[in-house]
Amino acid sequence: MPLSANHKSSKTMRSLVDNIGRVIVGKTSVIRNLVLALATGRHVLVEDVPGVGKTTLIKALARSTDLQFRRIQFTPDLLPADITGTSVLDTDSSEFRFREGPVFHNVILADEINRASPKTQSSLLECMQEGQVTVDGVSYPLPEPFLVMATQNPIEYEGTFPLPEAQLDRFALSLQMGYPTASQEEEMLRVRRGADPLDQLTPAAERKEVLQLRSSVEQVHVSDAVLEYVVKITQATRNQDNIYLGASPRASLTLLKLSQALALYQGDDYLLPDHVKEMAPDVLRHRLILTPEARWEEHSPDEIIGSILNRLQVPGAQLS
Ligand SMILES: Nc1ncnc2c1ncn2[C@@H]1O[C@H](COP(=O)(O)OP(=O)(O)O)[C@@H](O)[C@H]1O
Ligand SMILES: [Mg+2]
Repeated sequence: MPLSANHKSSKTMRSLVDNIGRVIVGKTSVIRNLVLALATGRHVLVEDVPGVGKTTLIKALARSTDLQFRRIQFTPDLLPADITGTSVLDTDSSEFRFREGPVFHNVILADEINRASPKTQSSLLECMQEGQVTVDGVSYPLPEPFLVMATQNPIEYEGTFPLPEAQLDRFALSLQMGYPTASQEEEMLRVRRGADPLDQLTPAAERKEVLQLRSSVEQVHVSDAVLEYVVKITQATRNQDNIYLGASPRASLTLLKLSQALALYQGDDYLLPDHVKEMAPDVLRHRLILTPEARWEEHSPDEIIGSILNRLQVPGAQLS
């Protein structure tokens, strides 16, 4: 029984990836990893320069499911209550009642999150952590699933508030779009000669199929050897000369889950070291703080993660 459910989940994930691929040209591993985050019910940060399709990517994901979706544009004057909601006076009953804010949706696009004040950012991060909103001592649960997909532009310094590392840790993955190749960019122009493909998208998965993905991911078998490999990677980030702050235990958990999701996507019942290797950069890069010397020498988190993966011994054939 679990096998056929997993087969179905793998198919669901593939149709989501194909659907998003009708809008976003190229970027297949970014699209795939976004779908893996959805499958594990985890939050995602998309970080890149303007105009590379960040907002479009997340809108395409949202339109590929029937989950309730809301975009919140983060601006300097956005207040915490603009996200969470607020108590309003009901004139009929003369009582206060809670009016839900936009955060009460399944998928939130927190667009340009680094433009809002730290106070407003943390009100969203509190929702992500607790899965509920508390106003005047009363807690209101957020819907299931609840996923925040945030975008941020890393080169816009003036008037922005970069998320502190402790908050970055709440995002399972940081995705980088990167520029398209010349032929992809031409393809994008060709596709866009007609109507906007985003408007043509129809859902490829229903809410219950999305929720099923999470339990299918848990069915992917993890051997001790691969589990130890995950821990070796995160531990290595804590013992590197050029890293000031390494990956947390939360990062280990996330790396394991996302790697299981990749195995499921690829139709594998077992987690392999290659799945872990493939997911490590997106899971780890935003959680590492390099030492000033390493930054001065222009080392990057990706390069350091790459060298750790190259150095560590990969568990051999004894996988089960
Ligand atoms: N790889 C891509 N595939 C398809 N469209 C793209 C791609 N990159 C950029 N675009 C298009 O460029 C425009 C700007 O994208 P947008 O999502 O607003 O960028 P960002 O949020 O990164 O600033 C959109 O019309 C989008 O469709
Ligand atoms: Mg945008």
